[in-house]
Amino acid sequence: MKKVIFICLGNICRSPAAEAIFNKMVSAKGDLLIPFSDSAGLHDYHSGEHADRRMRSHAFLRGYNITSLSRKISKEDFYNFDLIIAMDKSVERNLISLAPDNLSSGKIELFTHYCTNPLFTEVPDPYYGGDAGFENVLDILENGMPSLISSLY
Ligand code: 4NP
Repeated sequence: MKKVIFICLGNICRSPAAEAIFNKMVSAKGDLLIPFSDSAGLHDYHSGEHADRRMRSHAFLRGYNITSLSRKISKEDFYNFDLIIAMDKSVERNLISLAPDNLSSGKIELFTHYCTNPLFTEVPDPYYGGDAGFENVLDILENGMPSLISSLY
């Protein structure tokens, strides 16, 4: 079974939404052997907290239930996961510098690599913005997730 981890800065907005969308889309496939997902942040500012209330409510309106608690990425994550998905280019650069070896750094990819809409080049941080930013995060994640999931089978 393949394992994917979604990474953003605080693990309270983008990566928990990615995890919830991934989980709903894989469970909708109805397969017995479904890939495993998790999420984490580069920082521990919000460690142990539920996802941001705004992200949870925007996602809920599209049918996604975000339940994860924030945690910081660990060295073990680089060994334990097959795919390490960065939400933006800054997160990707940070992950590359944190990767303990070449095998681990080879697992790092930008989420938008899987998007079919060429306008989507990163999943922008919605934390300091308004409702449109949260909707944009969901639009981008819903666009790229089917092909990311297909790549794991
Ligand atoms: P995320 O958003 O990386 O998508 O979880 C953020 C959450 C918190 C902060 C920044 C971005 N912060 O500065 O606390």
